[in-house]
Amino acid sequence: MIKPRVGRMFLATCVFSFFILILYFQNNARSATEQILGRTSLPEKSRRSPLQTLYDSDQLDQSAVASVLQGRRELLEQACHSHTRKRRLLTPEDLRHLIVDDKHNLLYCYVPKVACTNWKRVLMVLTGDGRYREPLAIPANEAHVPGRLRSLSEYTKTEINLRLRTYLKFVFVREPFERLVSAYRNKFTRNYNVAFHKRYGTKIIRRHRVNPQPDALEKGNDVTFEEFVYYLVDPRTQKEEPFNEHWERVHSLCHPCLIHYDVVGKYETLEQDSQYLLKLAGADQEVQFPTFSKSTRTTGDMAAKFFDNISPFYQKKLFNLFRMDFLLFNYSTPTYLKLR
Ligand SMILES: *[C@@H]1O[C@H](CO)[C@@H](O)[C@H](O)[C@H]1NC(C)=O
Repeated sequence: MIKPRVGRMFLATCVFSFFILILYFQNNARSATEQILGRTSLPEKSRRSPLQTLYDSDQLDQSAVASVLQGRRELLEQACHSHTRKRRLLTPEDLRHLIVDDKHNLLYCYVPKVACTNWKRVLMVLTGDGRYREPLAIPANEAHVPGRLRSLSEYTKTEINLRLRTYLKFVFVREPFERLVSAYRNKFTRNYNVAFHKRYGTKIIRRHRVNPQPDALEKGNDVTFEEFVYYLVDPRTQKEEPFNEHWERVHSLCHPCLIHYDVVGKYETLEQDSQYLLKLAGADQEVQFPTFSKSTRTTGDMAAKFFDNISPFYQKKLFNLFRMDFLLFNYSTPTYLKLR
């Protein structure tokens, strides 16, 4: 889906009225979190916060899932430490992808092509005051309508800081090239995605195809994966505007080195990670994460086929572009790449 224009306009005004950058250092947040968790005389609350549940050693779940999640968290922190040079402050624009659930104290950074439609549906059920019951009964396009869910960038600075400090923050990631191939297949090989063909396809063909046919130039509906790769690695592309969210890197969408995510879920273990999260949030009785059909899912083998006719030179350029997502989330370099 193309970035909602309304959302952009709102943000523009937001950024102006909101000029002071948000003071949020990872370390501050961390020690603050530890302080809150360390206190023994917390006011009695009807429900434990998911963040408390996650970190409280009494409650600490020793299950396999919990230790895998802890490993991912530590690896992310280490990778951020080794591969990012300078910390900077967060701006409201950075928080656009964070969806807020004030009922269960959750912040979810959505990444397109990583089951984000289903996670948005689940959050609509959780925040909807009974308006929605069954995630899959919510039409996919409805889940992406701006305003159905609240983004953290809509809150005031104080409210933002409070939520960053006390809510359970999570993100779902996926093998970067499988995600990229999935975005390509979905946006450029399906007839119905006319908006993407017009907006991106025509431009890609104009710039990256030798002797394009007038029909292709006008419709933009037959972009090859190779042309898509040329578009991605062309320095002009990102100079003109940020990547569309469907192929933008998680590193740029969710700022995992600035925002300390408590849970990094993976597409590869989607069902179990999602169930675990809903349990942490105390919401596993309210909603079930939809199990979804795997029939059209992009796999590693499929990605390998798409990379087959990309020259080593462009494979390398593309890998460099997505390098941080590989490093931060512990994805190994695909064996099908010809990087030497
Ligand atoms: C990172 O990936 C390797 C190889 O897939 C795996 O063996 C290891 O357990 C992973 N580490 C973490 C912390 O997830």
